[in-house]
Amino acid sequence: MKKALRVSGLNVTLSGRRILENISFDVEEGKILGIVGPNGGGKTTLLKAILGLVSYEGEISIFGFSPAEARKRGIVGYLPQRSLFDPDFPLKAKDVVALGMVKGWFGKLPSDWKERVEHYLKLVNMEEWKDYPFGKLSGGQQQRVSIARVLAGEPQIVFLDEPNTGVDVVAQEDFYQLLTKLNRELNLTIVMVSHDIGVISSYIHEVACLNRVLHYHGAPVCLTQPEILKKVYGPAADRVLVHDEKCENCGYPDISGGK
Ligand SMILES: Nc1ncnc2c1ncn2[C@@H]1O[C@H](COP(=O)(O)OP(=O)(O)O)[C@@H](O)[C@H]1O
Ligand SMILES: [Mg+2]
Repeated sequence: MKKALRVSGLNVTLSGRRILENISFDVEEGKILGIVGPNGGGKTTLLKAILGLVSYEGEISIFGFSPAEARKRGIVGYLPQRSLFDPDFPLKAKDVVALGMVKGWFGKLPSDWKERVEHYLKLVNMEEWKDYPFGKLSGGQQQRVSIARVLAGEPQIVFLDEPNTGVDVVAQEDFYQLLTKLNRELNLTIVMVSHDIGVISSYIHEVACLNRVLHYHGAPVCLTQPEILKKVYGPAADRVLVHDEKCENCGYPDISGGK
């Protein structure tokens, strides 16, 4: 299988402080990787390094390209950590999606942009809302339109930074199901940061537990191994353990909620 992402010996230092230390992991094409860890653990910084937005030491390769080259080729989609939109934000849902097709500051829209916008809005079940002001949509709806915008750039791999902040539980489940659909139908590789390990474990193929160093990378059912959580979360580990049913795959307590 093709490697979508390869990170090797990655170090990031910001303002003289080592934020990420010797991080190495791979993601194969078509997989969904969840990145979990405490606040301040370096999750956003890791995504920024992979996107070439902060300087780093070590090697990063995205489908064989450097971060800068991969972005230039449009292979990479990025949804930054969400900030709630002002309800007076003037763009309609369809305009937000169209923005995802603009290449560079002075880029032009493709001639078939309207059809393509409809296609991507349909993919995220938001076609009926195309003329609605983006800022007046619910958090979950804004999130779907934002995903449509990222998809409109036709990426092969997308990076989502805590896409569920400020979104209610039902919309979160719907969102994870949407990601699963996009992953299967488009063979889209997805790297998603979340602090919600109880919910995401049933929707991801692999998990990376990050707190300055990478404490674990592997099957998500093993997320509840107390020794791993203690290393990643410290004394807060007890609070992230969800329940204690045995997982049939690995024998460790299962946090997937029986799905
Ligand atoms: N530009 C910066 N300069 C200095 N320190 C930073 C900068 N950006 C983030 N940090 C620090 O790096 C650490 C990791 O931050 P971040 O990657 O945002 O963590 P997370 O996304 O896991 O919450 C934090 O201690 C944060 O204060
Ligand atoms: Mg963050």
